[in-house]
Amino acid sequence: MSKFLTAIQPSGLLHLGNYIGAIEPAVESQQENELRMFVVDYHAITVPQKPDELRQNILNATAIYLACGIDPNKTLLFQQSQVPQHTELAWLLNCTVRMSELERMTQYKDKAKARGENVLVGLFDYPVLMAADILLYDTDVVPVGEDQKQHVELARDLAIRFNRDFGETFVVPEPRIKKVGGRIMGLDDPMKKMSKSAGSAKNYISLLDDEETLRKKIMSASTDSEGKVAFDESRPGITNLVTIFSIVAKKSFEQIELDYVGKGYGDFKKDLAEALTLFLMPLQTKIKTYLEHEDELIKILNAGSIRAREEAERKMEIVRKRIGVKL
Ligand code: TYM
Repeated sequence: MSKFLTAIQPSGLLHLGNYIGAIEPAVESQQENELRMFVVDYHAITVPQKPDELRQNILNATAIYLACGIDPNKTLLFQQSQVPQHTELAWLLNCTVRMSELERMTQYKDKAKARGENVLVGLFDYPVLMAADILLYDTDVVPVGEDQKQHVELARDLAIRFNRDFGETFVVPEPRIKKVGGRIMGLDDPMKKMSKSAGSAKNYISLLDDEETLRKKIMSASTDSEGKVAFDESRPGITNLVTIFSIVAKKSFEQIELDYVGKGYGDFKKDLAEALTLFLMPLQTKIKTYLEHEDELIKILNAGSIRAREEAERKMEIVRKRIGVKL
């Protein structure tokens, strides 16, 4: 049994890329492993958030986790800001990480470019908080999408460095990225990943999109002029749609290709929109039911956060001793 851990930012709506890249593999991992899964609200504030919206997004993310099958009886489900050891360890790791290591992070470079003068120190430091998230819990495996690989590698480097300088303290984690689905691409631009911060809502399928909206988004998704439904990496638009279809309808690529021999993209997209509706509508019903019971959601997060604090504190006691501040 290995220790798995993953987390999602409660910033805006969660999309199909988040589900395929991170939530689904986490749900699967619960069967035979120990899972820790949390809402990283202190990561979300690395770009300015409105307090009321942030509160609602924390509840939404929790409801989505539960509706997708995260079982709080098996999995430690909690809220990052309720476990102050995360920010404490982030500070200690800040004193071991080099500026140049953070300057190399591609996600920071992309986001910083988009924000110009308004880049906050928190955004720069965000991978260190993520390393603390991971290292506090002796994590073996971190299921994430491809875009987070570099951050998990930084967590590995910081663990190895700390162990070398202060004695064996942290487990060195490894990223687990799906070969198919680790990078779901934008519907309007299949050269870029699907992202909640994309300029256009046509870029992503939100897990909360209604039937009509998701049908329109799929029908207008970018493809190519070849007209042949296939998984072919030289044709990123149709390959992305085939990938999504294969995951939500649980069909192989070969089967999908066979089913559409002699048919056009129009038929395929219609069926994909239908498959997504069949997948998302029952999920949305469950999400709504959870959101109607806000007190229950808060109770689940609070109970998980108490357990997480105990576990994280045990680790921090060792860390404080190792660096010499525990008298
Ligand atoms: P976040 O909130 O941006 O994304 C959550 C998860 O969704 C994955 N993902 C995707 N997977 C496939 N295709 C896509 N288009 C796509 N877009 C997003 C992300 O890779 C991620 O796994 N820093 C993290 C959150 C975090 C974390 C952690 C993750 C904080 N601490 C500790 C793991 C372990 C983030 O911002 O993810």
